[in-house]
Parts: sequence; C-alpha cells; structure tokens
Amino acid sequence: MRAYDIIFKKRWNEILSSSEIDFMVKGFVKGVIPNYQMSAFLMAVAINGMNTDETLSLTKSFVDSGDIIDLSSIPGIKVDKHSSGGVGDTTTLVVAPIVAAAEIPVAKMSGRGLGHSGGTIDKLESIPGFRTKISEDDFIKQVKDIGIAIVGKIGNVVPADKLIYALRDVTATVDSLPLIASSIMSKKIAGGSDAIVLDVKVGSGAFIEDEKEVEKLAKIMVNIGKGFRKKMRAVITDMSQPLGNAIGNSLEVEEAIKILKGNGSSDLREVCINIAANMLLSGQKVKDLKNGIDLTEEILTSGRGLQKFKQLISHQGGNSNIVEDLSLLPKAQYEDKLTADSNGFIKKIDCKQIGIASIILGAGREKKEDIIDSSVGIVMEKRLGDNVKMKEKICTIYGNDFSKIEEAKKILKKTIEISEKRVSKPILIKKIID
Ligand code: URA
Ligand code: CA
Repeated sequence: MRAYDIIFKKRWNEILSSSEIDFMVKGFVKGVIPNYQMSAFLMAVAINGMNTDETLSLTKSFVDSGDIIDLSSIPGIKVDKHSSGGVGDTTTLVVAPIVAAAEIPVAKMSGRGLGHSGGTIDKLESIPGFRTKISEDDFIKQVKDIGIAIVGKIGNVVPADKLIYALRDVTATVDSLPLIASSIMSKKIAGGSDAIVLDVKVGSGAFIEDEKEVEKLAKIMVNIGKGFRKKMRAVITDMSQPLGNAIGNSLEVEEAIKILKGNGSSDLREVCINIAANMLLSGQKVKDLKNGIDLTEEILTSGRGLQKFKQLISHQGGNSNIVEDLSLLPKAQYEDKLTADSNGFIKKIDCKQIGIASIILGAGREKKEDIIDSSVGIVMEKRLGDNVKMKEKICTIYGNDFSKIEEAKKILKKTIEISEKRVSKPILIKKIID
C-alpha cells in the first residue's frame, strides 16, 4: 500500500477500505507518513467526505492508536457526555455533579480550549489547587469513592487525534463532518463509559453552523457509538450566542456554582437540565425524560448537586471554600463595559467573535504554548431578543491589560447588532436523537 494511492483515491471521491484508512492513520502516528501527505489526505476527506463505513473505520483506527480506559471495575452504568464545542459552554461543570449526585458514576475526561471554544479542563484549573492530572488508578478509585472524577487525558488515549487535530487546525480542515465525528467519538469510546450523551451545538459559535449539517453530524456520531455498542443519545442545542452569561474560566466556575445553587441564567439552566435528564435516562435512573427533568430539578433544589461539586473539588486538591466564597476565585484587575449606541433589541451576535474576544483577553490560547489567564472574560448582560436602551450596558469585559480590553471591546462592538424591530429568542433545545 502507498499513501499516494490512497490520497489519489479520496481526491477522486472513491470509497476507501478500512485497511487503507488504517494504513494512513497508523503510518502517520508512527511518523512514516509525513505531514504533507496527511494534510493532502485530510483536505481530500474534508472536500469529498466519507460514507458511514469509512467514518466508522476512521474512528476505529483512531481508537486503536492508543489505550482504552477500562472502567469495568466500577459498578453501574457509566455515563459520559460531550459537547461539540461552543462559547461559554459551562454545561459539564453543572451536569457532571448532578448526574453523580443521582448515583450514576461519572468518569470523565475533558479537553482544553480549541479554536474559539473553551474547554472544561481550563475552567476547572481556575479553581485554586484543582488537579486535572491524575493517574488511571487514582481516577478509578475516586469514581468508586465519590462517584465522580473529571480529568484531562489519562494514559495514551487516541494519540492519532492529538496529532491530526493539530494539522487540521492549520490546514482549514476542522469543519468536516467525518473528521469531527471520528475525533470526538474516538475519545469518548477510548474513555470507556457505557453510555454517551452528546451535546451537539448549532449556530454562529459552533464548529458547524448549519442546522441540517449539524443534525447529520449528530446522527453520524450516534451511529458510530452504536457501532461500538454504546448507548447513545444526542441533543442538538443552540449556540447562536454564548451559553449562560459568562465566558471565561473563573467566571464560568462562578456561573456553574450559581446554577447549582438554584440561581443563574435561565438558558444555561435549561440546557443543563435537559442534558442531565438525558444522562439520567441513559443511566436507567428514570423511565423517561420528564422524570429525568423532575429528578434533576430536585437535585438542584436540594443542593445535592452543589455538595457533589464541592466533593469533586476537594478530592482533586482544590479549595472547595470557593463554593461559599466566590471571592476566592481569581479576579481580573480591571473591568470595562460595552454599552448600546441606540434603543432597540439585540438582533444578532456573532458568537464565534465573542469567543475570539475572550481569547484576546487571555481566557484562551492563540498559540498552543500560551498560558491562560483564569480571571479574565466577558459577562453578557443582554442576550438575543432583549430590549436595550441607549447607553445601557450590553456586556462587562474583565481583563488585566488595557490594550487587550480595548481590542476585545472593538470586536464586541462590531459583533453585536441592535435592531428597532422586536426579535424572538432562539429555541435552546432543537432536537433529541437516540
Ligand atoms: N471537538 C473535538 O474533539 N474534535 C473536533 O474535531 C471538533 C470538536
Ligand atoms: Ca457560560
């Protein structure tokens, strides 16, 4: 077999065999296939796509490139969740403790920020002392002891994705359905859980903006999971504006705590309740979604979710007093605000640009080596459809550097449109696929 012939076939939109796909992935991970051949291959896939069998084969080759975490010693149905990536997506910080409080084991590997989107691991690391690097044995022990652990990578899980993602990021091949599906699903399958709930984002802050394409992506991922005998559910949710009010690491931890205390923004709350309910259903704790929603609300009201979050923090070395005293979280030195320059309604927000503005402030990385500033970010005071008056505050900008605050503010100003006409609010939960 030759890489050249496989690239040539995909370039002319022919179907590849599982051994051809495996040859490309294995060869690349071993360093036998160079970056330029893998880049050409990825571009051919991005342009011509892959059918169901090819996408499943690609996922299998990804999974086979590294370790699979064995969770079989933990009793019960292990339920994982994954977001396809968004701006201010604080969901995991809320739903993982809720589901664990319902006695469903959550053994979760999460990621860092990617492109314009934030990552759960970066958010958790804004909690003073919180450790996201844990050995596999300690990870499993913690899930047995308290029912929850959230960590970065464990062992050598899907090295192929790490290498290929870095290439996709610089060759304009991120927004390809088979490449996104295999990247996400290989990591979930290697993570070892029995059931997976996917939160697939749609809108200007998602990796794929078009609703029909996103539905296709969700179906592809559900089918891949079923191919690996996982129980699958996917929820398509809105990302046409940041989820919740906060974007930025410690700001989002604060926001998650508010939701777990029964307050916080209603849109984040609604998405969290829905995702948690789907996880409770997958974990066979409830007989239908309605019961899942009721149980989730009960866990929020009783404070059991908040207690589980505290327990998670202290078991991973963090200062769990932050839950009672939010001032213990890192705080930015300066704040500024963006105000409305006319009366009207918030008509349009380019959500991706808001993610980019938060990265400029330091909440994400522009280059791989960059160090995140946990304290900075943006808090949206107004959301799509909200009424605004001239000079009223639209968002607060938190930063530690005046020039960066100015730069972020310029982007935000260009990104948020106000219209005279009334604008309807987006529907948050668009579709559930199982
Ligand atoms: N998240 C991932 O892990 N991979 C992708 O390709 C896109 C989003
Ligand atoms: Ca948020």
